[in-house]
Order: sequence, then structure tokens, then C-alpha cells
Amino acid sequence: MTSFQRSIASYEAQFGSKPKWVAHAPGRVNLIGEHIDYNDGFVLPAAIDRRLSIAASPVNHPEILIYSEQEKQQVHFSLDAPLLPSGKWTDYVIGVVEYWRRLETRPVGLKLAIASDVPYGSGLSSSAALEMAFATLIGEVWGLELDPVAKALKCQQVESDFVGMPCGIMDQFVVGLARKDYFLKIDCQSNTHEFIKAGEQFPALLIINSNVKHALTDGGYASRRAQCESALFKLGSASWRSVSMEQLSGSAGKLDEVELRRGRHVISEMHRTLEACERIQASDYQSLGELLYQSHFSLRDDFEVSCPELDWIVNRMQSLGGREGVYGCRITGGGFGGCAVSLVDPEAVKRVIQIIAHDYLEAFGVSAGFFLTQPSAGCALSKL
Ligand code: GLA
Repeated sequence: MTSFQRSIASYEAQFGSKPKWVAHAPGRVNLIGEHIDYNDGFVLPAAIDRRLSIAASPVNHPEILIYSEQEKQQVHFSLDAPLLPSGKWTDYVIGVVEYWRRLETRPVGLKLAIASDVPYGSGLSSSAALEMAFATLIGEVWGLELDPVAKALKCQQVESDFVGMPCGIMDQFVVGLARKDYFLKIDCQSNTHEFIKAGEQFPALLIINSNVKHALTDGGYASRRAQCESALFKLGSASWRSVSMEQLSGSAGKLDEVELRRGRHVISEMHRTLEACERIQASDYQSLGELLYQSHFSLRDDFEVSCPELDWIVNRMQSLGGREGVYGCRITGGGFGGCAVSLVDPEAVKRVIQIIAHDYLEAFGVSAGFFLTQPSAGCALSKL
């Protein structure tokens, strides 16, 4: 059963009636452009075909009741009381409630049942899926449907200011705006976007989950962001967009060694992302794959957000190489664990999975997870 069907089944089992709506939102995979959304860069994610779904109906008292299939418990909170973060997963929902009720809305109570096919804590944006699905639901029920960009920016604010993870705009943006068969090139300086079609011959998008759980709220992400900001300040520039590699190396004396490396990643990743868009449009998957490896090595060495397991996966994929149908592979998402994204010849997928599954288990004593995905549609609401 899909998360859509399971959310309905859970709702019926918990509340003994049928839901009125199902709001659903995808996870995302970032093909390239990592850790540069908060640096005025370009990013190139797509929504994946795994979704989180929320089955819901209104209740006639000012309360939100939430059942989560994963947590196997019901929690509820009052719409009349102040809503504060608790450090739990429910913050993604409560934060949206809090920020939406500050707008011109008519809050009404709701019963919800949540089911998800987006792996949690794996760098595939299960949190943005939850925020955006819920924001889509209350947009309808509370009478304020924001346009997708405004909705994404508001959810980013929830995650950053309420949940406490100072993220950029990439995840909420792609979860809200994605289209089937397209990557979304986002210009994170102007918050504008362009759709880049994954052509007929586009390789299989194989996601490899290292099963190392990542926690972006524990400081590694925030410290990278702070280092980029302090480097930019020392460079005397308003935006990373206007800093060239020459300028960065010319200013080496002003920056400490770590800031220099962070800056090198930011500037080089911007170039790689623009180049990747051109390579997709030219159906040049060999060069596209090469850019994925370069991105990984830059994230590993200059930005230091990888981990031994993901480095191992990328190296092993690279050693299989074109001969075995592997074009490229890199860590995806915030890092410190989670998944790798790879481009593989569809004919070679089965064999590549067998090899990596076997060797990874042997190397780390842990099983890797694998799934194929396709660029998919963004969040939506179904009225039942
Ligand atoms: C997380 C954040 C995004 C982005 C990525 C890294 O997913 O939510 O805004 O910064 O990490 O590219």
C-alpha cells in the first residue's frame, strides 16, 4: 500500500470514520548544488516518487489530533494555547500551525493520520514533506491558499525559526513546485526557478541509503552556515554570487584555512551546478556523472559534510565506473550520513545493486538501502 492508502487506513482505524482530505508531498533528491542554497547559489533537485500523506477531517473543537503511523501514537494540542517547540517531530506540524495562525486565517480543529514512504533522517527531506503537506492542508481548510513560492518560504521560516534548523530554501521549494520528469533549477538569490527536463535517455536515478542517520539540528549544519557567513564578511562581499575563485585565493590572508575551503566549495559548486544543467540539456551523462563525483569530493574535503560510509559508496561506485554502467555518484542532502544519489545505466542497475549491497555489508556490517526513483510531482491535496 502507498502512504496515501495507509494514511486513510490509519485514519479510519484511529478515528472510526472516513477522512475528508488527503494532503500529500514528496521527498526530494538533490542532483547537484549542495550547501549553496543558503549562499545565493543554484541548486538542482527533483521530487522523488515517494510521498508522505496526511489524511484529515475537521473537528468541532479547537484542537489538533495527530496519529502517526511511524510513532504509533496519538498526540493532541490545543489551538487556544500558545504553541512552543518541544524538540520532537511534531514541531514541524505545530510550527506550521503557529505561523499560519498569524496570517489571515480561520483556524479550525483537525484530526490527522500521517503515513510516509520518505525515509526519515536520510537526507531526502522527510521534514519538508511533512511541513508542506500540512501547509497545503490548512491552506485549504483555514481558507488561505498561498502560492507555492510563498508557502515554501513560510515553511522554511518554520523550520529555521521554530524547529531550529537554519536551512535554505531548496527543500520546501522543490517539494512545492516540482513537476514530473523535470529537475528544478532554483536560483537561490532571486528565488526564481526553471524546469530542466530529464530527457528520454536520462540514466536511472538510483538512491543508495548508507543507513547512517543524520541529525542536522545537532550543530554541523549551522556551523557550516556560520563559517560561510563569516568568510563572506571578511571578503567584504554582499553575496557569494559575486565572489570569484581568483578573488577568494587573492584574499587568502584574510580568511582562516577552514573558511577558505568552505568558500572554495561554494564557488566551485555553483559552477558545477550550472554546468550540470547544460550537460542534462545536451544529454551528456558521462560529463554530468563526472560533475557528481567532483561535487562529492568537494563536500568531503572542503565542506566536510560526508562520512566514511558515504565516501566508501562513492569510491566503490566510481571504481565500477562506465564499464559497469555507473556514470556518477555523490552524497545528497544536508550530509553527515543519509543517502547517495547516483546515475546508472538502466541495464546495469541490478548488478550494481548486488555488488554494492554485498561489499557494503562486508565493509561495515550494515545493510545499505537501494531504490530507483524518477523526478515526480510536488505536493497536492486530494478531496475524497
Ligand atoms: C538541507 C537543507 C537545505 C540545503 C541542504 C544542503 O537539506 O534543508 O536547505 O541546505 O541541506 O544542500
